[in-house]
Amino acid sequence: MRVQSQLSSLGQKNEQPGITTVHGKVLEVPIIDFSDPDEEKLIVQITEASSNWGMYQIVNHDIPSEVISKLQAVGKEFFELPQEEKEAYAKPPDSGSIEGYGTKLFKEISEGDTTKKGWVDNLFNKIWPPSVVNYQFWPKNPPSYREANEEYAKHLHNVVEKLFRLLSLGLGLQGQELKKAAGGDNLEYLLKINYYPPCPRPDLALGVVAHTDMSTVTILVPNDVQGLQACKDGRWYDVKYIPNALVIHIGDQMEIMSNGKYTSVLHRTTVNKDKTRISWPVFLEPPADHVVGPHPQLVNAVNQPKYKTKKYGDYVYCKINKLPQ
Ligand code: OGA
Ligand code: NI
Repeated sequence: MRVQSQLSSLGQKNEQPGITTVHGKVLEVPIIDFSDPDEEKLIVQITEASSNWGMYQIVNHDIPSEVISKLQAVGKEFFELPQEEKEAYAKPPDSGSIEGYGTKLFKEISEGDTTKKGWVDNLFNKIWPPSVVNYQFWPKNPPSYREANEEYAKHLHNVVEKLFRLLSLGLGLQGQELKKAAGGDNLEYLLKINYYPPCPRPDLALGVVAHTDMSTVTILVPNDVQGLQACKDGRWYDVKYIPNALVIHIGDQMEIMSNGKYTSVLHRTTVNKDKTRISWPVFLEPPADHVVGPHPQLVNAVNQPKYKTKKYGDYVYCKINKLPQ
């Protein structure tokens, strides 16, 4: 019966997809001009995108394009080294440390009740603040790896400061509040390089399975090979490649601090039959022993906290081990 009435309503012009699809454009992750001098407008755009999508691209962020291309060039060079050379930076087994090189190529990974092949190599390096940097895990080859990454971290720092300020103001907080709540100047920038080689059977493999990031915010640059998808209202959307744009992901800790106003975005990546995809997400993480919870100024008798307050390290432990938070 329902189907019948839905079908008959198709006769009405305003129900036809050809007419109701907005200007023939597919819904897409918002694109925000970070250099807009109208700060009020910028705050509205950032706040809406952080609430509705949890993902957006920022352009005109002031990081010179050469800085981004160098970051990309040295990362690519590292992954093209012989396997033994990369293994020299392997994550020490049982070290408990996230840093170093790891591979999931050819390994079985499970997503729900289906098992697929993982198809990604990665390298993790903490790149900011200088006090947490451990050069032991930074490739010495190519020789400019260190300089390129340090340069990127320095520029990214300005973007992070501005973004956290806008996100705070968007919640009606003072500009410094969210950064303070996330660990202040101890907020850690964890760079991950994902390297997805061409995959003969993209239908049987996934880059990364659907997940939300544990971070406060993740800032990602991709190469030009399509693969990242964001989920909104139960549907998946390709995140289109825009040269030099930064892809902002709202992560779990930001959702928690904002008491649910901002949404941690569900995302995944597909792999390509012919091309190598590479991405450089930087996870902005509180120190492990830093306590994170809904911001005290956002909760009261009416707005009860929707999340627990706990150490970030404990949050990570529960998520990785699939324990309730
Ligand atoms: C991740 C991730 C996306 C990408 O590593 O957490 O979501 O585009 N990567 O590679
Ligand atoms: Ni992710």
